[in-house]
Amino acid sequence: MPKKGREEARRRIEKLARVLHHHNYRYHVLDDPEISDAEYDVLMRELIGLEGQYPNLRLPDSPTTRVGAPPLEAFGTVRHSVPMLSLENASAEEETTEFDARVKRFLAAEGLEIPRTLQYVAEPKLDGVAVDLVYQHGILVSGSTRGDGVTGEEVTQNLKTVRTIPLRLEGKKTPGLLEVRGEVYLGIADFQKLNRERQRAGEPLFANPRNAAAGSLRQLDSTITASRPLKICCYGVGLVEGAILATQWETLEALKGWGLRVSDRVALCDGIQKTLVYYQDLQSQRDELDYEMDGVVLKVNRFDLQRALGQKTRSPRWALAYKFKPRQATTVVENIVAQVGRTGTLTPVAHLKPVCVGGVKVSRATLHNQDEVEKKDVRIGDTVVVQRAGEVIPEVVSVVQNKRPSNARRFTMPKTCPVCGGAVEREEREVAYRCTNGFSCPAQLKEAIRHFASKSVMDIDGLGEKLVSQMVDVGLVRNVADLYELNPKKVAALERMADKSAHNLLTALEKSKKTSLARFLYGLGIRHVGERVADVLAREVGDLDALMKISEEDLTAIHEIGPVVARYVTVFFKNPENRSLIERLRKCRLTWEAPKKPRRKGPLPLEGKTVVFTGVLSIPRREAKRLAEGLGAKVASSVSRSTYRVIAGEGGGENLRKAEDLGVPIVDEKEFNKWIAKASD
Ligand code: IVH
Repeated sequence: MPKKGREEARRRIEKLARVLHHHNYRYHVLDDPEISDAEYDVLMRELIGLEGQYPNLRLPDSPTTRVGAPPLEAFGTVRHSVPMLSLENASAEEETTEFDARVKRFLAAEGLEIPRTLQYVAEPKLDGVAVDLVYQHGILVSGSTRGDGVTGEEVTQNLKTVRTIPLRLEGKKTPGLLEVRGEVYLGIADFQKLNRERQRAGEPLFANPRNAAAGSLRQLDSTITASRPLKICCYGVGLVEGAILATQWETLEALKGWGLRVSDRVALCDGIQKTLVYYQDLQSQRDELDYEMDGVVLKVNRFDLQRALGQKTRSPRWALAYKFKPRQATTVVENIVAQVGRTGTLTPVAHLKPVCVGGVKVSRATLHNQDEVEKKDVRIGDTVVVQRAGEVIPEVVSVVQNKRPSNARRFTMPKTCPVCGGAVEREEREVAYRCTNGFSCPAQLKEAIRHFASKSVMDIDGLGEKLVSQMVDVGLVRNVADLYELNPKKVAALERMADKSAHNLLTALEKSKKTSLARFLYGLGIRHVGERVADVLAREVGDLDALMKISEEDLTAIHEIGPVVARYVTVFFKNPENRSLIERLRKCRLTWEAPKKPRRKGPLPLEGKTVVFTGVLSIPRREAKRLAEGLGAKVASSVSRSTYRVIAGEGGGENLRKAEDLGVPIVDEKEFNKWIAKASD
C-alpha cells in the first residue's frame, strides 16, 4: 500500500475509527451487524496498517485497543465523584409494599404532592461486578470498580476490552461529561465453558459467574480480560454535564441512544402492584435466561422525587432490591453414589436431604468427579452448600466445615460398576473413572438409548426415560437397532402402555428413520463425538461407508479433528459388533441426507494443534485468532501441557510465565507470520 500523506492518513484513521466503532456497536450491543466479519477485518487491518505507519496519529479510543495492553504492576484507585451506593433488600412481597408506603409517607412529610400512582422503573438485578465508566465529550477516559462505594480500583484497560462497552458514544449530541453505572457480568454458558477449559488445564474453578466476572476484571494483564467474553448492562448515571435527565426511564432511553447496552427487560410500572407482576414474570423466566439475576431493582422514576427522598448511610430511599429466592441452600449429604453415564463414566452424585433451591426441590447434586470430591472434601453426613443456575444440574459448592459430624464418611470410587459389576478403570491423564462393560451394562445401555432417542439426535417422540428403562429391564431392547424391530404386541403389553401410545411410538420410530448423517453419528454415542464433531465428520467425510473405512491419519488431517477423536472413531468402526449394528439399522431402512460441503484435500499447518496468544500483538486478538483458526489451530485462552505453541506479543503476562514453567515452546509474532505466509504459498 503506498504511504498516504500525513493529513490524508489522519482523516482516514478518524473515518475508520468512526466506522469500526459503529460496526462494533451494531454487532455487540444491538446484535444486528450490518457488515460481514470479513469486511470488518478488512477495515480493521487497514486501520492497523495506518496506525503502524503513523503511531502518533493513533487515537486514544482507537478500536484497536480492544486487545488489552501491557500488564500493570498494580491498579490505581479512583474516588467516585458521586458515591456508588448499595441497595436495601426485600425478600417478601409485604416488604415491597411497605417500601412503597414508606416512600409515600416520606414525600408527604416533605410537603410534596404525591401522584396517586407512583411510577417505578423495574429492572433486572444482574449478578456481576458494579462498574463506573467516565465519558468525556463522548470518549471513554476511565473505568473503575465500585470498591467500597467511595473509592474503587481503576480498571480502564480491562474495561476497554469488553466489547459491549463503547469506547466512543454513539449519536450527535453526547454530553460533555457522562458517568455511567452498570454491571459487568459473564453469561452462564460462557462461565461453564471457561470452567471446562480451566478444568482441562488443571486450574482452579470459579464458584459462580459473578466470581468469574470479578476475577476476569481484576487481572493486571488485560489481555486475559480480553479473552473472557464479559458483557455490560448499564442501569444508571453518576455525574452528568451537558444533558438534562429528569427521570430514570428517560435516562435508560438516553443511555441506549448513546450506544450503551441496557437490559431489554426493563419496565416502567404504574404503581407498586405492577412491579409485583413484573417480579413474578421475571422470576419465572429466570431459568431460561443465559445470565444470573438475583432479583429486581425498583426505582422511583422521577429524579425530583428521588432527590427529595435522599439517602440513608449506604442506600438511597428511592430504590429497593426485591431479591429472588436464593439459588443456593444448605442441606445434608445423606449418601454419595456413583452414577453410571452413557459412556460408562462414573459420576459421584450426592443424595441430599431434600431442600428448596430457588423455588425447585433438590434431592441430588453432582460432585463432578473424584478429584472434585477430594478437593472440596465432601463426606457423607456433611452439611453442604448446593446451588443451581439456569437449567444446569444442581452442584455441591462447598462444605460447612464446622457442622461436620464425627461419624462423617469419605466416599471412594467403587472398584466395580455399581450397576453391572463390570470392571472400573481410570484412563491415564483422565479424571473420569469408567465402567468398561459397554452396552452389556444396563445403565450405559439405558443412557445410550435415551441419547439416541433425544430431540437433538433421532428425535423419537414418546420414548422417554421411564419407557427406555422398562424396555431394557424386560429385555425388549438390547441395542438401538432393536428399537426398529419392536413387536407392537410386546410394546402394548408394557406397563402403562395403551394400544394408542404403542401405535404412536411405532409411528415416531418410523418417522425418525429419515435423518441426517450428523445426527446419526452423534446418536451412535462414539466417545468424544459430540454434536459439533459429528457435524464436522459428516461434512468433511461425506458418507458413512467412507467413514467406516477411513484411517486415523486421514481423520486427523481434518480441521478440528484431533488424534484422540480419530482414534475413537476408527476403533468404533472396526469393532464387528458396531458394524453389524449399523448393518441392521440399514436393513431397517434408516436413511440420511447427504451433507452439503465437499471434503477438503490436504491438512492445514496447525491442524488439531492448540495455540495460546499472550501479550500485545500488532493486530487485534480477534484477527489473530481468526488467522490461527484459518491455519487449523484451536485457540485457547490459557496454557496447559497440551498447548502446541504460545505466541507472545509485547509484555506477555501470566500465560508466558506458565508456558515457561510447563516447557511449552514460545514463539514470537514473526514466526506466526511465517506460518501464515507458508500456508498461503
Ligand atoms: S442501582 C443507588 N440497578 O446491585 C443505586 N444496581 O446492591 C445503586 N445491580 O452495586 C445501584 N443490577 O452491582 C442498580 N439494575 C440495577 C442493578 C444494580 C445490579 C447491583 C450493583 C450494585 C448492587 C447494589
